[in-house]
Amino acid sequence: MSTESRFTLDDRLPEDYFTTTLHADVRHGLSSRPRTLPPKWFYDKRGSDLFEQITRLPEYYPTRAEQEILTRRAAEIAALTRPATLIELGSGSSRKTRLLLDAFTAGGTLRRYAPLDVSAAALEEAGHAICRDYPGLRVAATVADFETGLALSDEPGPRLLAFLGSTIGNFDAEQRRAFYRTLSRSLTSDDVLLLGADLVKDPATLVRAYDDSAGVTAEFNKNVLHVLNRELGADFDPDRFDHVALWNAEHERIEMHLRSRTAQTAKIPDLDLSVDFDPDELLRTEISCKFRRESLTSELHDGGFTVRHWWTDPADRFALLLAVPN
Ligand code: SAH
Ligand code: AVI
Repeated sequence: MSTESRFTLDDRLPEDYFTTTLHADVRHGLSSRPRTLPPKWFYDKRGSDLFEQITRLPEYYPTRAEQEILTRRAAEIAALTRPATLIELGSGSSRKTRLLLDAFTAGGTLRRYAPLDVSAAALEEAGHAICRDYPGLRVAATVADFETGLALSDEPGPRLLAFLGSTIGNFDAEQRRAFYRTLSRSLTSDDVLLLGADLVKDPATLVRAYDDSAGVTAEFNKNVLHVLNRELGADFDPDRFDHVALWNAEHERIEMHLRSRTAQTAKIPDLDLSVDFDPDELLRTEISCKFRRESLTSELHDGGFTVRHWWTDPADRFALLLAVPN
């Protein structure tokens, strides 16, 4: 079968996604203090490309640590789960996923790969490349928001649902609770969850991973201002904000902020909104929670999952866990 006929892209974002969700997120996040924006708006084409660059930075260890675990454990995961479908949330470039695809196709069970991402550009690029490189595989990609529109279609089971990269850490505790509940209700007793989670470690290593010396993470952070300028006609000047990455010890999370260099006003005509920033005022653009085994196992249990396997890289920086619906 040709590459074209094995690839489908189903856009399930509501037609008014940008006018409704983006408008609501920006109005809500920028008209109250402290000012915040949800991280999903980083990922236009440029933001997705910048994230890929981040994954190759010497300071950004999570991608390499997770890759080490996948390299060692993919065959074991294939033998334990024997999936017919691999669903992946927030798949991005699907680069690490290839380690799973290799093991699952070698195991002879996998028929379908179903990546889901809010970035259509990332899905198009990754989906075509995977069809080309895995000739027996169907790739059924979905453009959707996994926070609000998580509808898993009737893919052949057993299904393995992968959520890699510690993207779960970009949710706060309340969002994670809602997410686990929705997910555990959508899975059957044949299905499994494969979750990547970055672990608590010394703050200096963590801060370096989010404030690299080449300034790529700073560009990624500021990209959200470019998105607001383009999508909402806003007039943010990214040069008048500094990138800030800090460790919040109380909540055990990295926070990314944009710090206003001066007193300034940003206009957002599409929302009929003006936002005044004080000098040094912070706009929080992302949280990246770091995890411990006991509390993560316990919150998953409360959300409807039992953790069956827990693997880490040799340096204990990152965990990959396999969980089943309770
Ligand atoms: N899984 C990959 C990419 C992680 S980057 C890895 O481990 O390297 C986070 C990915 O999640 C991006 O591709 C981004 O577009 C996607 N994403 C972020 N928020 C999302 C949301 N609310 N719904 C769907 N996808 C989202
Ligand atoms: C996608 N997510 C898990 C990344 C993280 O580490 O929280 C996004 C990121 N932000 C800055 N660098 C990478």
